[in-house]
Amino acid sequence: MPAVNYARAGDVAILEIANPPVNALSLAVREGLMEGLAQAYADQGVVAVAICGAGGMFPAGADINEIASGLALTAPMILDVQARMEAATKPLVAALEGNALGGGFELALTCHWRVATPATTVGLPEVKLGLIPGAGGTQRFTRLAGPQAALEAITSGAPLPASRALELGLIDRIADDALGAAAALGRQAVRERWPLRITSELKEHIREVSGGLFTAFRQKIAARARGQLAPWKIIDSIEAACTRPKAEGFRFERDCFIECRDSPQRRALTHVFFAEREARRIPGVGPEVKPLAVARAAVIGAGTMGGGIAMCFANAGIPVRVLELSADALGRGLALIAKNYAGSVSRGSLAPPRAERALSLIQGVTGYGELGEADIVIEAVFEDMNVKKEVFVQLDRVAAPQAILATNTSTLDIDAIAAVTSRPEKVVGTHFFSPANVMRLLENVRGARSSAQTLATVMALGKTLGKVPVLAGNCDGFIGNRMLMYYGSEAEFLLEEGATPEQIDRVMEGFGFAMGPLAVRDLAGNDVGFLIRKGRKLPPDERFSPILERLMERGRLGQKAGKGFYRYEGRTRIADPEVLAIIEAVSRDLKIRRRQIPDEEILDRLLHPLVNEGARILDEGIALRAGDIDVVYVNGYGFPAWRGGPMYWAEQAGLKRVVETMQRLAPSHGARWRPAPLLEQLAATGHGWPGIRDPKSR
Ligand code: NAI
Repeated sequence: MPAVNYARAGDVAILEIANPPVNALSLAVREGLMEGLAQAYADQGVVAVAICGAGGMFPAGADINEIASGLALTAPMILDVQARMEAATKPLVAALEGNALGGGFELALTCHWRVATPATTVGLPEVKLGLIPGAGGTQRFTRLAGPQAALEAITSGAPLPASRALELGLIDRIADDALGAAAALGRQAVRERWPLRITSELKEHIREVSGGLFTAFRQKIAARARGQLAPWKIIDSIEAACTRPKAEGFRFERDCFIECRDSPQRRALTHVFFAEREARRIPGVGPEVKPLAVARAAVIGAGTMGGGIAMCFANAGIPVRVLELSADALGRGLALIAKNYAGSVSRGSLAPPRAERALSLIQGVTGYGELGEADIVIEAVFEDMNVKKEVFVQLDRVAAPQAILATNTSTLDIDAIAAVTSRPEKVVGTHFFSPANVMRLLENVRGARSSAQTLATVMALGKTLGKVPVLAGNCDGFIGNRMLMYYGSEAEFLLEEGATPEQIDRVMEGFGFAMGPLAVRDLAGNDVGFLIRKGRKLPPDERFSPILERLMERGRLGQKAGKGFYRYEGRTRIADPEVLAIIEAVSRDLKIRRRQIPDEEILDRLLHPLVNEGARILDEGIALRAGDIDVVYVNGYGFPAWRGGPMYWAEQAGLKRVVETMQRLAPSHGARWRPAPLLEQLAATGHGWPGIRDPKSR
């Protein structure tokens, strides 16, 4: 099978790129395009050329493996194909369907014109892999749509719907039959003798661009892009498109691309990209296990989490019933959901008809009798085993026999919940993160008796709901919260020893965390943290810091109380001397002499416990692979994706060094600093994590 099919539709040549599954621009495709173009140019009967993708999909990008392996640089490179396209004497028109992204869209941008179907999306998502577009994407996009649009679209990597792309001038027409319309456009250009529109030579949008535009944009993304390479290189390249001669601009983009491609950030983000895909694969749950189709869902409890989970179903077009026992609580829950949708509409992130449609799919109920049609029920009531058990007894009675009964518990034993039902094989944990309609992670928890089909269903459900699903084993805290406990307590020990909340949060945010650990505590509520802690059993030689309790005694519950580890004005956190006094009193009571703690120590003290507990979790089989742990931390806990997650970070630092650091800290910081046996064993043998791919090979 050739990777590019050549055909004729009357006097128009059709080059159809056929490289399943996404028609990526592999070497074979590039060769096929070179041949196809040569044939079309030579063919006397051809007046114009249309380029499209097989199976209704324009190429969705370069081949990521080829970028990592260097094969993308084997001739003909995409740049060679583009040079050949720009040398055409016949009109070239791209017919866009599906997702024309990355290298695929760069190819389309090189054509003289572009036609798309209404459902097509286009975009340059390279930034998500730590890259910048490397085939003239920043230069041509800027020339077609102007620098402001280019800055927004390429630094975010967000896909653009066809309608928006038309408004911006990135495409020229929208038609249901993109290929037919592309051929027609080519013929029209010939008939009406249009000059060929070479996009790299357009000047209209890059004349007289004020440098202030770039300064303002750099300020705008400063916080979001802190510590990252690619977003800044994208801005520089777009600026180069506006300020430098054409050839220099293209060369500059290329140099930036190579710098990003060879950066540790690109490797880390590629690791996360593949880890997210691999996390969906579960040994023993092969393709022969068909997930249960989820046509209708139900959620028990319309609180913080229940409401958000119901929104996830509705956003995915799945009708969902939400149960509360009292009409009052139900009314409050539904009102909050409506308010959330109204907020999205007023911010412009959701079109009003879509919000209305989603709302119409959510139905409040107060009786269990109304849940009989649901294929899955997700329980999100109070975190109390007795309440949960009562709910599951009822659910088991009323739910359809095939229905899956899931719990959103963040700490409780799935098997104890399953045991009160007659269908333990249908019971599973589906741990969403707050706010559930926003956070991407779905930590599914396998009970001892959860069936393969139940697991397949909740993993598939994650994808349907637009989440990143990861499977965890059943233990206290599962993957994410179990590791978090050590991270959170270590932050408080650092406070006892002399650090301040501001210093700790500054160091961790400097490392790239979305929020430092104490700011996170304030957001989640210190009462919640305290409650979870109370339910935990600690080994005899370990303790919790009393700081949390002291803050609670003074009503410092966190953001919701306007004070916690900080004082709050709106959402702005402000260091509070009263907090420091509380911490200093704790240090005095514990007879700890406060000292200046270096920033590097803070980083070491907080990252190593994550890695160490991660190693235990891996050893016990609670996580299937180290990459799964990274996926959990990147998508659920604000760990910077461009550092690859805690396990990847440790492997890059060297597991031997990780163990040495722990051994150095152990004498003064207690038993919890003893390296996990797996970690010691790997450090001794020089191996990386089992199951993780060797990142150096990418
Ligand atoms: P919440 O207190 O906001 O909501 C619980 C809701 O359940 C309330 O509206 C309550 O009226 C309702 N409810 C209580 N008993 C009920 C019953 N027997 N039947 C029907 N409805 C009942 O609590 P939240 O924060 O939504 O937590 C729910 C679950 O999600 C808990 O298991 C919690 O551990 C878990 N979770 C919470 C997260 C968070 O950040 N808040 C994150 C992940 C999981």
